[in-house]
Amino acid sequence: MERSKLPVLFFDSGVGGISILRRSVGLLPCEDYLYFGDSLHAPYGVRPLAEVRELCLDALEPRIARGVKALVVACNTATSAAIGALRERHPDLIVIGTEPAIKPAVERHEGGRILVMATPMTLKEEKFLALQAQYSPRAEIIPLPCPGLMEFVEQGVTSGGAVEGYLLDKLEPYRNIPVDAIVLGCTHYPFLAGAIRRIAGRHVEIIDGAGGVAQQLRSRLAAEGLLSARTEPGRVEFENSLDQPEILEFCRTLLCAPEE
Ligand code: DGL
Repeated sequence: MERSKLPVLFFDSGVGGISILRRSVGLLPCEDYLYFGDSLHAPYGVRPLAEVRELCLDALEPRIARGVKALVVACNTATSAAIGALRERHPDLIVIGTEPAIKPAVERHEGGRILVMATPMTLKEEKFLALQAQYSPRAEIIPLPCPGLMEFVEQGVTSGGAVEGYLLDKLEPYRNIPVDAIVLGCTHYPFLAGAIRRIAGRHVEIIDGAGGVAQQLRSRLAAEGLLSARTEPGRVEFENSLDQPEILEFCRTLLCAPEE
């Protein structure tokens, strides 16, 4: 098949990457998309790096082999663990990763205080440490590991007492040290943006990297002449390692969920 007609493959440890998929579908509606979530093995962010890399390669290799024109690793944790190996194995494939949106946050809040919420692995890995070192002279970058938070989204819980209690606990210390922005460094967290805003307050800007990744996808496909020539909307197909029809239904709900 002509390469421009192949789908774009999206990948996450679960349903979180749909926060990037929905932006990409908005920007590039005529593309076909295949989204794979590895909910069976979620969370990734509390596992050893080598194990996460294996999980990513096991999930992705058979799907890349079916024929895709680009891969979006819509997961900060999987990006930290496997992006190098994926690029090495597939030098001709467009492979786009995800990183905490520290750059745009610092550009918008020079000299400010920026909280980065992410999984423990993302905040321990080289990618984050390099971003922190690069931008620390321009703003105070505070990492806030949130083990257990992505699980709420995986279970379909995006508001209510349990998740807001968790967030209150995490964000309590920053009531006295006010922050200017919160970077959502895990692709699950944009689905919790409403709850985070209710606790952090309206004055704090909440920033995620979804729009940037979608734009990067568009420019990479355009540069390689791989944009779909179609004028009608493409298909969005979901697959998940959990063998349950409900999870696929949940994915479709998240794709259409209004952004808070
Ligand atoms: N959405 C993933 C991320 O961006 C969650 C990782 C996990 O499974 O812990 O990091």
